Amino acid sequence: MAIDLTIKVAGEGGEGVISSGDFIMQAATRAGMEVVTFKSFPAEIKGGYALSQVRISDQKIPSQGDGFDILVAFNGEAYEVNKPLLTPGTIMVWDGPKGGDFEPEEHDGVQMFAVPMSDIAKNQLKNYIAKNMVAMGAVVELFGLPEESLKSSIHDKFIKKGQEVVDFNYQAIELGRAWIRENYPDRKVTQSFPESKEQKDLVILEGNQALALGAVMAGCRFYGAYPITPATSVGNHLVDLMHHVNGTVYQAEDEISALATVIGASFTGVKSMTCTAGPGISLMQELIGLAIMSEVPVVIGDIQRGGPSTGMPTKHDQGDLFACCLGSHGDAPRIVLAVADVSDCVYLTIDAFNLAEKYQTPVMLLSDASLSIQTEPIPRPDMSKVKLVAREFAEPPAEGEHFNRYQITASGVSPMGAPGIPGTNYAATGLEHAEDSGPRTNIETRNAMTEKRWRKFDGIEDAFTPIEREGEDGDDLGIISWGMTQSVTREAVARLRAQGHKVSALYPKMLWPIPQKQIEAFAKSVKKVVVPEANFQGQFADLIKMRTNVVPIKFNAYRGEPLIPKEIENMALNLLQQAAGAAPKARLAIH
Ligand code: COA
Repeated sequence: MAIDLTIKVAGEGGEGVISSGDFIMQAATRAGMEVVTFKSFPAEIKGGYALSQVRISDQKIPSQGDGFDILVAFNGEAYEVNKPLLTPGTIMVWDGPKGGDFEPEEHDGVQMFAVPMSDIAKNQLKNYIAKNMVAMGAVVELFGLPEESLKSSIHDKFIKKGQEVVDFNYQAIELGRAWIRENYPDRKVTQSFPESKEQKDLVILEGNQALALGAVMAGCRFYGAYPITPATSVGNHLVDLMHHVNGTVYQAEDEISALATVIGASFTGVKSMTCTAGPGISLMQELIGLAIMSEVPVVIGDIQRGGPSTGMPTKHDQGDLFACCLGSHGDAPRIVLAVADVSDCVYLTIDAFNLAEKYQTPVMLLSDASLSIQTEPIPRPDMSKVKLVAREFAEPPAEGEHFNRYQITASGVSPMGAPGIPGTNYAATGLEHAEDSGPRTNIETRNAMTEKRWRKFDGIEDAFTPIEREGEDGDDLGIISWGMTQSVTREAVARLRAQGHKVSALYPKMLWPIPQKQIEAFAKSVKKVVVPEANFQGQFADLIKMRTNVVPIKFNAYRGEPLIPKEIENMALNLLQQAAGAAPKARLAIH
């Protein structure tokens, strides 16, 4: 039987919840396992409910899953929030029987192990911060988490804080182990950490790290951004990478300036990117218009978080789709892509740069707060399998000929010069312009230039088709999902199909221009279509309604957490039972 074990560590931000989950993830990866993590924490540096969940399997796993098998509860809040998920067969390791702030009830069929993590850390170690490693020691003794791997991760992470920090953490592990040995000598645990398998050639990356890597692989050599959660770490990772390739990372004074520097850098011929989150996208709207009008290729990453305004900076959301597809001003064509997993963060980012160059346009690349910190081992990215689109620079015009930067062409794409190429005029104008880039407002020019800007994307659906279909024609239900919800949908669809239900799915990665033909063909091939997404309005469902002949059913969650497979499974079962009608509202998942 396939291994499928989920360990969840939950407690207060500042107690080392995230580090604990990272160490478990590293141990599992070193043991040759597939891993998907899910982390969530408040916007405060200290305090509030934080969780780190690690799902481990010997098979490829699409998503974080539904719940947990083992809960390590650092405090009463972690227990209260997760109480409904303590179902028979689950195990809880908790901070007690003394020193903690709660006393759990009895739960039928749930194994409970009390480990006085706070008390041991405070009174024996005199280092409260090592509470998490007392807990990890208990996890080592109870479930066989490999101690050597844990110690090596501790060493790598904490050595910069001093050898004494490494030492007291090692001691904390030993005290956690000893507590279990002494207090539960006859224990029989129903879960265990999987045996090590042969390691594959994998690299462990988190979403934003993968995005940064994808950018460098795509040839990005200028990154200009203003820090904003959850996008900041893209820049941090790029600081580590860019100096290897002679690239530049620039911290601008705000998002408007950030995109202005990116447009400027790209204008000089350098592949360029910025990343931000919702509030930054709002500030960039005018500059997005400038990139469109001046036809300068740029990649704009939007790591979505709960909005509007400051909203919920560390929480999952898919609410920026309208802003990215329709924002800015005037008739403003652009491309919008959305990543679904860590692998996409590498390869779809490369696609984003290729499309930006090919169509001389801004490409909006949507990710989200959960995926930005989701960790997954993926096959080592291989440059030899990647095809890059280089900018096609115009040749210097022959003697007596005039260079037309905005020449009307059948494809809508015009020859592009760059400073340093003699005879190519260096205009990048936000004004409506003639072919030679001089300002012009006459009707003929306006019509021709507007049509040229839109004509670029005629046929893009045939030229670039990152879309996957699962299922068969005639199925009873078709699910269209985007972004991270695709990973969750994949798992739900696999379960539904394994139960014999006729369910299809469509997974588009390019959301705008909308893949109209493929969505319409998909909808025609199934009896009804539903779009699950993590926003209130059902933004992709609305865009589908606006630009195709399909009217999908909506299924929305907007609570600041990703949908989970069980919800999509239940929603699909409901719809399969109903002759017609709206999907039920997403229920509250518990994290
Ligand atoms: N021994 C020594 N140090 C330890 C430790 C141990 N056993 N366990 C954890 N730590 C350290 C970690 O190294 C980390 O220190 P660092 O910041 O110097 O790297 C710190 O304690 C916090 O631990 P960590 O496990 O990383 O996180 P946590 O689970 O305690 O949660 C966060 C803290 C992540 C919630 C919080 O710090 C945070 O970043 N909040 C979000 C802030 C934000 O983005 N706000 C939005 C603004 S708009």
